[in-house]
Parts: sequence; structure tokens; C-alpha cells
Amino acid sequence: MAEPVAVLTKRFEQPDAHTLDGYLRTGGYAALRQALDADPADLRQMVKDSGLRGRGGAGFPAGVKWGFVPQDTGKPIYLVVNADEGEPGTFKDRELMERDPHQLLEGMLISGRALNCRRSFIFIRGEYLWPGIRLEQAIGEAYRDGYLGRDVLGSGFDFDVTLHYAAGAYICGEETALLDALEGRRGQPRLRPPFPAVAGLYAAPTVVNNVETIANVPHIVEHGVAWYRSMGTERSPGPKLFSVSGEVKRPGNYEWPLGTPAREIIEVSCGGMLDGRELKFWAPGGSSTPLLTANHIDIPMDFDAIAAEGSLLGTAAMMMYSDRTSVVDAVLNWTRFYEHESCGKCTPCREGTFWLAQILERIMHGHGRIEDLQTMDDACDQIFGRSFCALGDGATSPIKSSLKYFRDEYEYLIEHGRLPDHIDPHAGVVTDNSGRHRPGQLVRA
Ligand SMILES: Cc1cc2nc3c(=O)[nH]c(=O)nc-3n(C[C@H](O)[C@H](O)[C@H](O)COP(=O)(O)O)c2cc1C
Repeated sequence: MAEPVAVLTKRFEQPDAHTLDGYLRTGGYAALRQALDADPADLRQMVKDSGLRGRGGAGFPAGVKWGFVPQDTGKPIYLVVNADEGEPGTFKDRELMERDPHQLLEGMLISGRALNCRRSFIFIRGEYLWPGIRLEQAIGEAYRDGYLGRDVLGSGFDFDVTLHYAAGAYICGEETALLDALEGRRGQPRLRPPFPAVAGLYAAPTVVNNVETIANVPHIVEHGVAWYRSMGTERSPGPKLFSVSGEVKRPGNYEWPLGTPAREIIEVSCGGMLDGRELKFWAPGGSSTPLLTANHIDIPMDFDAIAAEGSLLGTAAMMMYSDRTSVVDAVLNWTRFYEHESCGKCTPCREGTFWLAQILERIMHGHGRIEDLQTMDDACDQIFGRSFCALGDGATSPIKSSLKYFRDEYEYLIEHGRLPDHIDPHAGVVTDNSGRHRPGQLVRA
């Protein structure tokens, strides 16, 4: 049995952890002092050796990405922290920023030092007012006491942070759309290459990393690579926040080593399913990751093991649903989201998400035709891999996977024009970005 860990969350229960005093009292900024004495190239090597993989969804190794940044272009190097957190079901970055904002700032300072970067940005979801306030306070304290700004702690290193509130679009979490939005334009994805590491913000080398990725950095520097790799698996090392929502007793963020079986997280941290309900389907990493079933509950939650089962670890936002919930209804709900959030730049995603939502709506309201299932399958194949960015791919995940595992429920709906009796249209429980239950969200006529 794995044990929960308290690395990123170690100060979560400390009431004043969000203040500079509270952070310093519990060893905060010790890693920064180490980093200011270290050679930037050694810091980059350390992060590479740690095997830290991006926590924003794709799991790309952070140290490898940092290695793509050319150090000799004469242009400034930028660090952009992606705090847009728009993936349905995901609410981990919010808690990291709310409860321990200095941990993120320390991670940014060390990453900045490693990358020879002096200017950084936090691109925060516009609705995240409270985490934003906490960050503003922390940034103010850090400037006041010499942790940010010119000559950080007398080291000769200059480092600035700008907090930028996003205007509220899922697409702006996609890193190149994010950069366009940060530059003041409409957020739409850019053609790649060039990748941001080479030509990103203002066409200068830019590292875009997720909040949780950067929050790992102080711990790697302070405790070393071997310690970091003692958690998790060979190819997915370190601790991970799992945002669990849906029909479980205690939804919330829980920190476990990567590679912990989903069952342990659900049983130990969440107290199991709500009212003893039976697990029917779940998304392992947000709504863009293909659905899994009760048969997959013992899979280790790491990037490779989940991929081997045909899904993705994504943001590790585990959305759990019972046999009382209609998978078709849940899929319709997510598909409407993708239809609404598709930026319209490319045809497969813009048109495809619209038509998929229309068909699902028809099926859900009892007017489906059996040919609709093949049409949806074909439409997904025309979107996947043909869209300009991964939003389109993600939109196909719930549909393709539900057709694979729950085709019988679609067929029942089409044949009978209504849901099977054991499905309670009021059972559907989704969580908003606070992780709190919002019962009845999936209810429809
Ligand atoms: C539609 C879309 C939305 C995304 N939203 C986010 C987001 O809100 N936060 C995030 O960190 N990454 C998001 N990503 C992933 C980013 O493009 C990028 O991979 C990530 O910020 C890199 O950081 P990491 O390597 O530390 O994970 C999104 C990707 C897509 C395609």
C-alpha cells in the first residue's frame, strides 16, 4: 500500500502559510538561498535529473523543455506560469495558490535563476479572485522584503513577477493561445514550430509551465534528486495532487506519489463512493482524458500505466460516477463545454464539436437514430489529429471512450427514447472548481 505524502501540501493546514512570516517559519525560501549560490546550468541539470514531468496535462519532462531554451540569442528569456486551470474537474492549482502562494513564487524564482530569466508572468484564470488576492499579497510581501525585484537577497540576480488575470476562455490555457492573450490579442493557438521555448512571448525564448510543475522545483533543489525520485515510479517520479470530484464521499485535492492505484486514492482519501454507490465510469485526468470503467480502478495513476489502458493522466482530475448516472448525459455536458469553448480557428474542431453536441442532444432527448452512433464515431475520427490544437482531440475523448465501453446505454436510449430505470437523472453530481458538490447539475428533461 502506498501512503499519502505531504510535499506540495505540507503547509495546507497551517493557517498563516500564505504569509511571508508563516512561509519563512516553516523553512520557506531556504531552497532559493541554495539556488542563488548555484550555477544556473547545474540547477537545470538537477530538474532534468529529477524526471519532473509537467503537471498541466501533457506530462512533458520539465528539464528537457528547459534544455530547448537557447541561452545565447541576446533576447530576454521569459517564464510564464500557466494558472488558467480550465480543464473540467481540475482544481489543484487553485488550492496551491490560495494556501501556499510563496511556494509558487519560490519555484518561479529558482526556475528563473536556472533559466537566466528576469521577467516572469502568472497567467491566472479570471474567476480565481481569491487565489489572485492571495498571490497579490504574497508578491507584495516578496517585493517589500527583497525576495523579488532588483538584486534578490543581495545576490545580484534581478527577478520580476507580473500577475495577469485571464479573460475567461478554456483555449487560453493552451500555451500558445495563452501567449497571444498575454500579448493582448485574442487567444487562439499559434502554428508550431517554432515552439515557445525558441520563440514565445514577444517572439523571445519562453518557458510555459503549470503551477504545480513549478511548485515542485523548490523541493527538488532543497532535498535533492534521489529524495525526489524515491516517490513515484521510474518514469513518473515525485508527488502529485489528485483532484477528486463526483460521486465520492469526500471530494478534494489529495497528494499521493505518482503511480498510486486509483482505488487507494478513492478509498483512503475520499472514503469511497457516495452512499455506497457502485462505480460505473471515471475520467482519470479531466474531461479531455478517455473515460475508464470500474475494471480499471486498480491501475497505477502514472503517465505510462494510464496511457497503456488507452487513456491519459492529464491533470489527474479524477471524476467519479456511479451506476445511477447516465454516461450519455455526462458526455453531452462535456461536449457542450467543448462546443462553447472551441475557439473557431480550425474547421474540424469548430464544426465538429457543434455537430457532436447536436447529435448527443438528440439522443439524450429520445430522438436518436442508430446511425447516429457511427456518425459520431466518424466525426471524432475527422477531428482527432486534424485540429489545430489539442482542444479538438480532447473533445473526442469522452465520446469515443463512452461508445467503446457503454454503447449499450446509447442503444437503450435510442431504442426506448428514455434512460433505463436504474439511472436517476438527479444522481449526477459534478463539482465546480472549488471541488464542492453541485447536485443535480446533470439533470435534463
Ligand atoms: C485546450 C487546452 C487547455 C489547456 N489548459 C491548460 C491549463 O489551464 N493549465 C495548464 O497548465 N495547462 C493547460 N494546457 C496545457 C498547456 O498547453 C501546456 O502544455 C502546459 O501549460 C505546459 O506546462 P507543463 O509542461 O508544466 O505541464 C492546455 C492545453 C490545451 C490544448
